[in-house]
Amino acid sequence: MKIPLLDLKTQYESIKDEIENVLKDVIKKQAFVLGNEVRSLEDEIAHFSQARYGIGVASGTDALFLSLKALGIERGDEVITTPFTFIATAEVISYLNAKPVFVDIDRKTYNIDPSLIESKITKRTKAIMPVHLYGQCADMDAISEIAKKNGLKVIEDCAQSIGATYKGRKAGSLGDLAAFSFFPSKNLGGFGDGGMVVTNDKALAEKIKVLRVHGSTKRYYHDVVGYNSRLDNLQAAVLRVKLKFLQGWIEKRQQNAAYYNEMLSGVSVITPFVPEYNTHTYHQYVLASESRDDLLKYINSKGIESRVYYPIPLHLQKCYSDLGYRKGDLPISEWAAANTLAVPVYSELKKMEVEAVAGCIKDFLK
Ligand SMILES: Cc1ncc(COP(=O)(O)O)c(C=O)c1O
Repeated sequence: MKIPLLDLKTQYESIKDEIENVLKDVIKKQAFVLGNEVRSLEDEIAHFSQARYGIGVASGTDALFLSLKALGIERGDEVITTPFTFIATAEVISYLNAKPVFVDIDRKTYNIDPSLIESKITKRTKAIMPVHLYGQCADMDAISEIAKKNGLKVIEDCAQSIGATYKGRKAGSLGDLAAFSFFPSKNLGGFGDGGMVVTNDKALAEKIKVLRVHGSTKRYYHDVVGYNSRLDNLQAAVLRVKLKFLQGWIEKRQQNAAYYNEMLSGVSVITPFVPEYNTHTYHQYVLASESRDDLLKYINSKGIESRVYYPIPLHLQKCYSDLGYRKGDLPISEWAAANTLAVPVYSELKKMEVEAVAGCIKDFLK
């Protein structure tokens, strides 16, 4: 049986007519960059994530970058983040000639471990950037308390966690600024790159709005040097249709995850841990096993797609060798990189497919 890690074609088939209608409408109007669809999406995403302002930008990476830029992060500053994430999280710190300072993760949730943050704060630390990895939030109350005590800003990397909740509050409403990604494979994915910053801070929202259009508030008048980081109307139109289905799709992912948990109970793999204060949106369903590499090969050989997110933690990436980290410095991230793998959990996955994947894992581990 062939089971992909993600099946966007089946999702598309289920909403094809509605998507094609809104695309035709944008094409008819020939208004492509920013515009009405983008403005409506900004309001809708802000509302969905319980934040006041939304600013559509060109990607999740840009959403993170412009957040740091708006906060005034610059050369010589330090930003604390997790090494167990996609490279974009740290890259944006480097874009500003600031330094990413990596703090190890919690072994159960794979998110930054707040108890390790304070010892890494220096005079140069300006912000903490937690990532809500795989679809569940980092322990934000603990992080916010440290930030408040030390006068630091908090930027949530919500690229993988739209719709997740922490103590009943939505991802995106828990820090000073938050960044979403609409990369096609995300739980809310467009037909290309896209992203959004959300915030409750009007002044920061205004700054980002200016930065995304070449630093201008009025055409051809430039108060600051800005960027070209605009979201386009075609993407926004697609995303607005998909947003209506997002909660239902998340619930399907949660059902699939619950079924995996049931099927794999008593099997020697570690299934995802969800603290009682979180709801998990299962952007990825990630298992840990000491025989990860062989398990991965076995699953793939049976036609089931499985992948490792992420095989090398950022502190050990070649591009960050100048930061001076060594193997063993952040042991939990290194353990996670060596022992975890993601299996299909997408909304359209059928019950019998969950059974086939779980059965395959059981066959290997018995
Ligand atoms: C945790 C994390 N941060 C940032 C990004 C960057 O988002 P984008 O690909 O939209 O630039 C991604 C996704 O790729 C991600 O998974």
